[in-house]
Amino acid sequence: MTTTQRRGAIAVLRMKNPPLNSLGLALRKALVAALDRAVADKKVRAIVLVGDERAFSAGADIREFSSSGSNMEPNLLAVIGTVERSPKPVIAAISGVCMGGGLELALACHFRVAAESARIALPEVKLGLIPGAGGTQRLPRLVGLETAVNMIASGNIVPAKRLGGTPLFDAMTADDVTAAALAFANKIVDEKRVAPLVRDRKLSYPQADAFLHFARNAVASVSRGMPAPVKCVDAVAAAVSQPFEAGLATERSIFRELMVTPEAGALQHAFFAERAASKIADVPERIKPRAIKQVAVIGAGTMGGGIAMNFANAGIPVALLEVKKDALERGIATIRKNYEGNVKKGKLTAAKLEERMALIRPTLRYEDIAKCDLVIEAVFEDIGVKEQVFRQLDKVMKKGAILATNTSTLDIDRIAKFTRRPKDVIGTHFFSPANIMKLLEVVRGKATGKDVLATVMGIAKKIGKTAVVSGVCDGFIGNRMVEQYVRQGLFMLEEGASVQQVDKAIEKFGFAMGPFRMGDLAGNDIGWHIRKRRYIEHPQMKYSKIADKLCELGRFGQKTGSGWYRYEAGRRDAIADPIVDEIIAAERKTLGIKPRKLTDAEIVDRLLYALTNEGAALLGEGIAQRASDIDIVYLTGYGFPVYRGGPMFYAQQQGLFNVVRRMQEFAANPHGDPKFWRPAPLLQRAVVAGSFDAAAAKRTRRSRS
Ligand SMILES: NC(=O)c1ccc[n+]([C@@H]2O[C@H](COP(=O)([O-])OP(=O)(O)OC[C@H]3O[C@@H](n4cnc5c(N)ncnc54)[C@H](O)[C@@H]3O)[C@@H](O)[C@H]2O)c1
Repeated sequence: MTTTQRRGAIAVLRMKNPPLNSLGLALRKALVAALDRAVADKKVRAIVLVGDERAFSAGADIREFSSSGSNMEPNLLAVIGTVERSPKPVIAAISGVCMGGGLELALACHFRVAAESARIALPEVKLGLIPGAGGTQRLPRLVGLETAVNMIASGNIVPAKRLGGTPLFDAMTADDVTAAALAFANKIVDEKRVAPLVRDRKLSYPQADAFLHFARNAVASVSRGMPAPVKCVDAVAAAVSQPFEAGLATERSIFRELMVTPEAGALQHAFFAERAASKIADVPERIKPRAIKQVAVIGAGTMGGGIAMNFANAGIPVALLEVKKDALERGIATIRKNYEGNVKKGKLTAAKLEERMALIRPTLRYEDIAKCDLVIEAVFEDIGVKEQVFRQLDKVMKKGAILATNTSTLDIDRIAKFTRRPKDVIGTHFFSPANIMKLLEVVRGKATGKDVLATVMGIAKKIGKTAVVSGVCDGFIGNRMVEQYVRQGLFMLEEGASVQQVDKAIEKFGFAMGPFRMGDLAGNDIGWHIRKRRYIEHPQMKYSKIADKLCELGRFGQKTGSGWYRYEAGRRDAIADPIVDEIIAAERKTLGIKPRKLTDAEIVDRLLYALTNEGAALLGEGIAQRASDIDIVYLTGYGFPVYRGGPMFYAQQQGLFNVVRRMQEFAANPHGDPKFWRPAPLLQRAVVAGSFDAAAAKRTRRSRS
């Protein structure tokens, strides 16, 4: 976990806990022992504490949060105390990332020497916490109140270079940080410099109260639903108003208070869920992915253009193929316009724009893409058109090329059969706008090769997407669930709620957008199209006709200027429209429903549990690998509030027994649909097993035996 080398009078103590030197129990123990040895060694006059190129230390081992590991002695505070009280000066040599507990450790050292390329942060707020090992008290003493508040309340990474010149760093180097720290250590030994303590530094700021008041308001306005960011400001405020030890105690008590909040639980769940999503049970990490050097996208429409941008942004050459010249030109022009928007916002330089455009190669001929390693089809959602394209791809693409489809609703296994290489076929379901949305559903067909799957998961990461594996089914994970959510929203309109009430209730819960605003944005015609198919496939299934009535009037949403709301030219504000209320009232009359008042709590629970129940069905069918994958789909693709953890986590928090009881209440409502609220078998089993995953594990064991 550590190695120590003596260089003259200096002990170089290196942390070795790859990949990021997280401060788990074993490293903490080793650190204290190594420090003790260096202090005891009469030949040592100073100690250089160093990590490696990737990381000085990325901080606490978050896996220990859910066990009692982080409290096991020596805990981080004890390690920090050992460093701070060392009778021989300790110099932190900072390279790579230095975050969270890692930065708190460096702050307790007597001196800090940093590589210019190092990156520092106190990101605890992103897990619903504040730094809990002195970070909120020491950092402001070195970088000043304002910078500390910004860093701690945002959790963002700051390049060390930007803080060069502040007392945070005693020296900075463009070269080897260990060598620079050694030279620095020799110098302070020669000069017999006293080892200063950060805790002894005075923190003064003119009119600190006024600034902190402003900071609290500013932070509160961007952290709706999350208690931690404002608490970060409170903790830093203690560094100004209280002596050091009292400030530490304040920090500790806020940390403890936050540790048990549902929001911190949800954010930590999301953190682990995102990492878990990239793992596929039967695809071992040793499987060698195929090399992806060139990509092709078929169709330069809404999705194709956005998909191509992802690759250009990651520096991967991408060909864009269309049938017609004008469609191709239009597609390329839209991409350029998108990039120009980024240039205007200062997010991209004009030179980078040209670099990216140069990576996108427009073409009308399949021969031009034959050598690409991955091709993603994004043509019209029509099985006939897809067939044509895949037969053509099968003919021209080189052996080993991966053939992906962006279809939202069509059967991937059927598409695979259009080729003589179903193993190479996979679904890559991007979300609109494809250049912005994080989520990518990777759809695994019956025949999809494991190496194909591993390759696509890898490339997804490269282009900055959060990929979740889904099996083949209508709508995959996200849209299959959203259909039930919207169905439930419509039933509530029939029963007495208004469009605005439904949207507002779930937006207050934290969703970015309610179901009706979402429909207006995505286009209500999409759902209409799907419903028409459902009426034929499942004639028994209950559907509200209100949305159809709206579509019959051409109210498809923002693109037609009206939908569930009306829109004024050039603006996106959703304005309530009495015509919609009239349509709803007429439908209630036809159904003989006397409207009743629905509470916001009923609205929220019905929408959420519609998602949860369908999610449980997906898990039971093995379409989703694990409950947390479903949460990730909703957090990254559907505007589910991250501090609620996703529909499966949230339900688990409420108690699955209570969730099922609530569903029974809804089934018994006047006009309730008992069929809709029949708990998925896996949900029922999960009540007994204690969790979705425990119930799903039984499913896996059974299906294996
Ligand atoms: N729009 C969305 O929100 C969304 C989201 C996820 C997935 N999808 C899926 O992505 C695919 C494309 O959707 P879109 O919204 O971009 O459609 P679109 O109509 O905007 O674009 C389709 C493009 O494909 C081109 N095209 C048609 N036939 C072709 C062929 N044989 N060869 C080459 N190009 C051809 C068309 O000229 C058009 O430019 C569909 O399968 C759709 O279901 C769409």
